[in-house]
Amino acid sequence: MVPIGVLVSGRGSNLEAILDAVDRKYVTKGEVKVVVSNKPGVGALELAKKHQVPAVVLDDKGLPKLDPEYDKKTIATLEAHGVGSKEGLVVLAGYFRILSPHFVQKYHNRIMNVHPALLPAFSGLDPQKRALEHGVKIAGATIHFVANEVDAGPIILQAHVQVRDDDTPDTLSQRILRQEHRLYPEAIRLFTEGKLKIEGRRVLLAT
Ligand code: GRF
Repeated sequence: MVPIGVLVSGRGSNLEAILDAVDRKYVTKGEVKVVVSNKPGVGALELAKKHQVPAVVLDDKGLPKLDPEYDKKTIATLEAHGVGSKEGLVVLAGYFRILSPHFVQKYHNRIMNVHPALLPAFSGLDPQKRALEHGVKIAGATIHFVANEVDAGPIILQAHVQVRDDDTPDTLSQRILRQEHRLYPEAIRLFTEGKLKIEGRRVLLAT
């Protein structure tokens, strides 16, 4: 079993998709051991409770977005719940902090993130809005391993979404989100079954 720690900051719809995938045994080789939120009172914490997964708040109020000292507390929390850097998987699910190089190196190729765009296009903030403004016809979602540079690690899975003429950032985000909810469990399933092989920037899927 691969122990999984999920880091969240908000409503937690990706967290829920992951917890549901474990519950319905789509993911059988991984177990969510802890959910860590940098914000108190968010929806993701309620969802963890509903699924009887331990939830920890490490409030980052007033701290910078990238803070190695704060990350040490996160790492200690993950380790205390059995999500170690040798066997664990850290899943960023709507986590609005930047991980320190120490964290990224320690859990090398064991941290995944979801980004609501077809990377490397529209990395960073508000990608759905910027994609619309740019006039792209195809948007989408990306699951990738986390590297030091934000939104830049090896890509695991992507799915595209057709942009409609009447789309708003909201409607486009909703359709992309449905793809995120499909892709994240799939990426976690592949990882926990040992089916992801990383060669440089490329993630190959073993069949
Ligand atoms: C998702 O769109 C994710 O791609 C982005 O933030 C949003 C989080 O949503 N990074 P949720 O908290 O998983 O509902």
